[in-house]
Amino acid sequence: MSKQRVLTGITTTGTPHLGNYVGAIRPSIVASRDDSIESFFFLADYHALIKCQDPDTVRQSSKEIAATWLALGLDTENALFYRQSDIPEIPELTWVLSCNAAKGLMNRAHAYKAAVQANEETGEDPDFGITMGLFSYPVLMAADILMFKAGKIPVGRDQIQHVEMARDIAQRFNHNFAEVFTLPEAAVDDNVAVLQGTDGRKMSKSYNNTIPLFQTEKQLRKSINKIKTNLLEPGQPKNPDDSTVFQVWSAFASDAEIARMRIDFENGIAWGEAKKQLFELVNAELSDARVRYNQLMDDPAHIESVLLEGAQRAREHSVALMQKVRDAIGISAIA
Ligand code: TRP
Repeated sequence: MSKQRVLTGITTTGTPHLGNYVGAIRPSIVASRDDSIESFFFLADYHALIKCQDPDTVRQSSKEIAATWLALGLDTENALFYRQSDIPEIPELTWVLSCNAAKGLMNRAHAYKAAVQANEETGEDPDFGITMGLFSYPVLMAADILMFKAGKIPVGRDQIQHVEMARDIAQRFNHNFAEVFTLPEAAVDDNVAVLQGTDGRKMSKSYNNTIPLFQTEKQLRKSINKIKTNLLEPGQPKNPDDSTVFQVWSAFASDAEIARMRIDFENGIAWGEAKKQLFELVNAELSDARVRYNQLMDDPAHIESVLLEGAQRAREHSVALMQKVRDAIGISAIA
């Protein structure tokens, strides 16, 4: 039986936070250790350029994300872990796919549409501040996916449309030329928590409400203490279901611990006490990895060598696939 091939990219524009950990990193690392799955994980640094024109941020974020995944125990023997920009076939395929992707399809991409709408609302030219990178983003993502014949793409809800576009582009290519591409499907796991940030909204860099994954213990305690709560006093019953403290607790605790905390809430646990327990729980899960993370951040040459090895393995696939694509479209030697 052939293994299921799973692929996902991480845009390198920020520092990993607890929301990334719970929503994407932790399940991916579990998958990386599963023998029945062939995982492809990569740093989407070309995607980073769409949102970020600061070279130091892109560099630093690539380093932090790679160190984070390695520190948390990504199995780089079983999974392929690489950097998008180390695979020159990806921009090559992006161009070929651009010539097969309907512009009308790209006009419907949420991120692009939102940018146009924001311009219209402020009375700007609809194209104001919109690069071709933003417009073509789904084509680059299609190249990432189709290059490695990935069947299952674990993504957040905001990315489903992009995977569907990749599928659409693949279908069109297969129909027009040859059956080269596997049709991908988005996999959204409803059991994975979308973590709330310190202000109660979805944890996200753009809301400035994140709890970074690998800060010092002291900083982690401080961040957890910043989580917004209501003004109920110790002894007053608290509703776990509208509490960010409880929501984050649930993403880290066992079922038994979740049930116990629910009762503590109903019995009026003090916010200070609940946060103290939350810090201890999160810290216990992260503290060993934090040590490895700091070691890796001090040894960038090691990170680099792991990424280059991953790229070498990935290119065995991408060079072969690109050859098929070239043959199919008529870009080949004359004699
Ligand atoms: N665009 C994705 C995001 O922002 C990251 C990404 C790039 C990706 N290429 C991908 C995800 C391919 C899945 C497959 O989250």
